[in-house]
Amino acid sequence: MVREYIVSNQQRFLDELFQWLRIPSVSADSRHKEDVRKAAEFLKGKFTGAGVDKVEICETKGHPIVYAEKIIDPSLPTVLVYGHYDVQPADPLNLWDSPPFEPVIKNDKIFARGSCDDKGQVYMHVKAFEIMMKLKLLPCNVKFMVEGEEEVGSDNLGTFVKENKTKLKADIILISDTALISLDHPSITTGLRGLSYMQVEVTGPNRDLHSGVYGGAVANPVNVLCDMIASLHDENGKVTIPGFYNKVQELSKSEREAINKAPFSLDEYKKELGMEEIKGEKGYTTVERTGIRPTLDVNGIWGGYTGEGAKTVLPSKAHAKISMRLVPNQVSSEITELFTKHIESIAPPYVKVTVTAHHGGEPAVTPTDSKAFKAASTAFEEVWGKTPIPTRDGGSIPIVALFKGELGLDTVLMGFGLDSDAIHSPNEHYGVKNFVLGIETIVAFYKHFVKA
Ligand code: BES
Ligand code: MN
Ligand code: MN
Repeated sequence: MVREYIVSNQQRFLDELFQWLRIPSVSADSRHKEDVRKAAEFLKGKFTGAGVDKVEICETKGHPIVYAEKIIDPSLPTVLVYGHYDVQPADPLNLWDSPPFEPVIKNDKIFARGSCDDKGQVYMHVKAFEIMMKLKLLPCNVKFMVEGEEEVGSDNLGTFVKENKTKLKADIILISDTALISLDHPSITTGLRGLSYMQVEVTGPNRDLHSGVYGGAVANPVNVLCDMIASLHDENGKVTIPGFYNKVQELSKSEREAINKAPFSLDEYKKELGMEEIKGEKGYTTVERTGIRPTLDVNGIWGGYTGEGAKTVLPSKAHAKISMRLVPNQVSSEITELFTKHIESIAPPYVKVTVTAHHGGEPAVTPTDSKAFKAASTAFEEVWGKTPIPTRDGGSIPIVALFKGELGLDTVLMGFGLDSDAIHSPNEHYGVKNFVLGIETIVAFYKHFVKA
């Protein structure tokens, strides 16, 4: 019944999603502030159409949160669905094969910014809800909280959650914002990494200098910054910041074995990335390196002349954006402090170094022995014909730890993307099959969750 409904309405579902994807809700870019709001309004309209009792646009100091609910019987369980309708900036634009905000289907994949992360995945929940309403299958209460600042660190979400604990009262959090191993190997994410995001500014001379007149006699901040960054890893790929690994939870041999049982082909991995060799922390497999190990990466670095041709200049300043992915039981604020102290301590006397912190978030691990996890697992078995494999993902969704801390609630991470969907990159896409099967799996989740 559910499948028939999806098949006969698939084109409309996609048309609606396409309309939403056409709104460039880039939260990081103030020029798109109104577009972010338009995307919230659009979602509000779709919740209304799908049959919620109540939907509101909740103002925050930043972009608004869309909240909707359907309470069929207060004595029944309540599922709280979280997602985000904001998207990453689309640049570099020239690397897109088709414009990022003009969705198209090629090879059964929807190409557009936000198609996978996270509008496409949020929309599966809207349509799963519509189906349960239309077919009278909704077995419990449901609340939706869809934010517009996830990609910029969810600055105002913590306050919203703290101030709305009654409104958000629920039994389980359900999120689709992660990836499957593959269409052949469905999986459920059971862990996410945390994040500390930093910025470093190195200042040398009080102005840009002629690199011939002064070169060799004055410290070059770009050179200095590169030296400092290079020293942040040792020859084994370990981060050299003192204390960085102090709180890292080391997994037991059997836990590591379990993680490495997940199907993974190094050859395919390299091929997909166009790389002949890969590199990471010594002593760990690729799956472990992204799932259970902390990291440090430069996200962007600039300074001096980067325009056309060559200009001889010894720059006054150099900058880098550096992020660290964290694992249980590292604490974002502590790592931020360790990083700051360390950078200050290695700064040579001939430059001035300032360190500032951007957003952070805590790592999270979700239980696999709960009623909700089992319901998700059974839902996958029913729709995909396979038992989903538990996996630890490398990305971050800081709200998961926040929900646990503030509301005492566990999360089920039932994401349907693929690592190869190019989220945050040019040509982001999302499989039509992932979208369609995802909707069906979500409907099945509710059924098993309430039955269990
Ligand atoms: N959906 C992603 C996180 C993700 C992606 C988790 C793939 C697991 C697999 C989310 O939108 C995201 O990009 N999060 C940011 C963190 C945030 C604090 C900016 C990230 O991971 O960089
Ligand atoms: Mn996301
Ligand atoms: Mn994202």
